[in-house]
Amino acid sequence: MKAINPSTTPAWSKLVELAQKQKDHNISSLFQNKGRFEEFSIQLEDILVDYSKNRVSEQVLSALVDLARETHVPEAIEAMFTGQPINQTENRAVLHTALRNRKGQPVYVDGKNVMPDIQAVLDQMKEFADKIYSGTWLGYTGRPITALVNIGIGGSDLGPVMVTEALKPFQNPKLDIFFVSNIDGTHIAETLKKVDPETTLFFIASKTFTTQETMTNAHTARSWFLGKAKDEAAVARHFVALSTNAKAVEAFGIDPANMFEFWDWVGGRYSLWSAIGLPIACVIGFKNFEKLLDGAHSMDEHFRHSPFDRNIPMILALIGLWNTNFLGATSEAILPYDQYMHRFAAYFQQGNMESNGKYVTRDGQKVNYTTGPIIWGEPGTNGQHAFYQLIHQGTHLVPCDFIAPANSHNPIGDHHQKLLSNFFAQTEALMKGKSLEEVISEMKKAGKSEAEIEKIAPHRVFEGNRPTNSILVKEINPYTLGQLIAMYEHKIFVQGAVWNIFSFDQWGVELGKVLANGILPELEGDGEITSHDSSTNGLINSYKQMRKG
Ligand code: F6P
Repeated sequence: MKAINPSTTPAWSKLVELAQKQKDHNISSLFQNKGRFEEFSIQLEDILVDYSKNRVSEQVLSALVDLARETHVPEAIEAMFTGQPINQTENRAVLHTALRNRKGQPVYVDGKNVMPDIQAVLDQMKEFADKIYSGTWLGYTGRPITALVNIGIGGSDLGPVMVTEALKPFQNPKLDIFFVSNIDGTHIAETLKKVDPETTLFFIASKTFTTQETMTNAHTARSWFLGKAKDEAAVARHFVALSTNAKAVEAFGIDPANMFEFWDWVGGRYSLWSAIGLPIACVIGFKNFEKLLDGAHSMDEHFRHSPFDRNIPMILALIGLWNTNFLGATSEAILPYDQYMHRFAAYFQQGNMESNGKYVTRDGQKVNYTTGPIIWGEPGTNGQHAFYQLIHQGTHLVPCDFIAPANSHNPIGDHHQKLLSNFFAQTEALMKGKSLEEVISEMKKAGKSEAEIEKIAPHRVFEGNRPTNSILVKEINPYTLGQLIAMYEHKIFVQGAVWNIFSFDQWGVELGKVLANGILPELEGDGEITSHDSSTNGLINSYKQMRKG
């Protein structure tokens, strides 16, 4: 991938100029163009993406598309899909798209077609998932498995958590699924209280199979299991590994036949499509897992082959860049109006922030522009009663993505109509706001006194002009969820490519890990610690005094 400072391109200068001019523009006035919704929205199968409520004119959009071209995004896209080692700091290809390459055309890494290996693991996953789903995989006492416990963290946790929650209506009701990620012993302790060793299957999910949290939880689960089963041979029926590290899996004591492999060209936060997705396949059934892959593949094809101005991930990425680099936004909210999608924002918090939370360019310099925004969000309408106040009237510009299904899996009474009325109302309110004149006239009509109006009216004014995207989906099902996830993955990719950073490494998580490993032995015994700064020493020594026993 070429290392081009985006701020030196002609398109960037043009965008700076347009942003200056735009200062007085507001989104509502752009709707004088009666065709704006049709022009600024894209439908792909059952997904409609409306980006018309942004501070984006045709001129802005065209300069943004130029920016993508001038920073060589088209070449970057091809480099990713064709298995070039674009993760240059780790010298790896980035091929989550190959995992869902449903037409099976060859994809080469170092001259080797990776598709046969992908298919072989998918076949192995199918065989295993079918046995769990149908209740024919039996535990050590001959009872079928009824509880699945995934032990993993980060990308080896968040994807399966998010997807199994989002697809709960598709879940086999005979199976319970639990996720243990935190090294806090509470997480595993509380989970083990709910399951029976005779009917529980543990997935030890770790790309590296060295992650401290996962290995500690895995050993605790194994001891707990052996404490009841009292037979090492029983482990094979209750523990499987999802990993790239066969040696470490064997050393842990998991039968290599129960290892589901993936490869170093699958990034952790892009791994739910790989063997890491096995718990998903077990609870929703392998056919549904394939539909998830199909959906992602459909978005991959759309992204790879659509012109940039009709390309959903591209447009979302470019509008995000506009908001971040030219309008000064520092965060983005993801707001699903679907309770089942309650971990979606958390999932893309990792996806986005671990990918694009970088200040070093591809040529090793410090960036002179803003990169990845802070990602956050909660499902609507809960968020409305918590943090929307700031989005409507705060001093930060928070571009928001509103996501809603047209059809609910739980069509009870008028719940869904009410939910959707909020979904539509919020983006309208954020765009239109409410002027002082409107507030005063309303208050007058309500019979308020002049004094009260003077005192209260300013607080009831909404500036409006707050940018949003609305993503309306016919129904959240495995296929459309696959599309939505791939849509955001590619958005992140485009932004990283333009920002001239490496989106597929995560060196920023290393320092804390290393220091924690150094501190761990210092927590033994009562001796005073003096090797750190006075704050860290003081905290460690106070902890030693406070702890019991
Ligand atoms: O947080 C750092 C990280 O390396 C993530 O990128 C990854 O998803 C997570 O740790 C878990 O890693 P592993 O799958 O190797 O246990």
